[in-house]
Amino acid sequence: MSDAPFLAATRTSYDALAPIYTEVLNPDLGPRSRPLDRALYTAFAELVKAGGNGTVADVGCGPGWATDMLHQLGLDAFGIDLSPGMVAVAQRTYPSLRFEVGSMLALDLADASLGGLFASYSIIHIPWDRRPELFAEFHRVLAPGGQVMLGFQVGDERRHHTEAWGRTVDLNWYRQRPDDVAELLREAGFEVTATIVRHPEPAEKTPHGHVLARKPADVDVRDVSGDGQTGAWPTAVSSTTWWGAEAHRARSLAAQTSPAQYAVPQDDRHVKGVPELLHHHRRPLDTGRPRKHDRDQPEERGDRTSTA
Ligand SMILES: C[S@@+](CC[C@H](N)C(=O)[O-])C[C@H]1O[C@@H](n2cnc3c(N)ncnc32)[C@H](O)[C@@H]1O
Repeated sequence: MSDAPFLAATRTSYDALAPIYTEVLNPDLGPRSRPLDRALYTAFAELVKAGGNGTVADVGCGPGWATDMLHQLGLDAFGIDLSPGMVAVAQRTYPSLRFEVGSMLALDLADASLGGLFASYSIIHIPWDRRPELFAEFHRVLAPGGQVMLGFQVGDERRHHTEAWGRTVDLNWYRQRPDDVAELLREAGFEVTATIVRHPEPAEKTPHGHVLARKPADVDVRDVSGDGQTGAWPTAVSSTTWWGAEAHRARSLAAQTSPAQYAVPQDDRHVKGVPELLHHHRRPLDTGRPRKHDRDQPEERGDRTSTA
């Protein structure tokens, strides 16, 4: 199916709305003013920073208010939008930030180049049946450990509008079920960390949903024990970002690859010890047997000295 007709209609519609968008939807009276929404944006920013503070794309950025907010929260954020009119408004309003024209279905970004992807009320213009492809594209551009946060109106309906705020448009709004969004993100390879629904404010017609998810950290498969077997460990973790799901995942990876060497006791005390092992030594738990690392150390030291 060609993207052209629905993307062209969406682009033209937002070009028509761009000059009046922030007069009608003043972000300082809308999302920027709502404590719950602000708390979620702050949480997203902190998660991105904890994962290394990579570049964040505000996808479907519209007039750029969220790009600016993410920047103020300490992120290296830039905006992408389908509508050149919207991008022009964003660039004029926030001249020190970067905004680009582009489609979220085919992002002009390298694989694994982002630390975060933020999409506030923009996936609502993508036909439901294109969401698997959309989330695969989000997964492609995020680095391992990268965060995604999606905001949308909750519901089941598709609404078509030919007029908005006195302007002629040809726009579809696809409301979303949070559980569907979460499931599709999982199917695209994400770990969903939060699915949040807040009740409508007096001027809103629907509940609003936010889903936070994370592209899993890389696994590093190597023969750390020297016994010819490989161990698999998450690589992009530190002890400060070591949470229950990651610990659980490491335990199952470890058990699959080398149960005798890597069996990790289930209690918390030992689980808390695992990140230190990973982070500082990347070697299996002490089994009483000599480890490859220990056996090789003198030779390695000798090699380094001789070439120094
Ligand atoms: C409802 S506005 C939301 C704007 C802004 N994120 C906000 O929260 O105020 C939807 C925006 O998504 C953009 N958009 C729609 N489809 C898009 C696509 N395929 N790729 C990139 N942007 C798109 C529109 O041009 C529009 O600016």
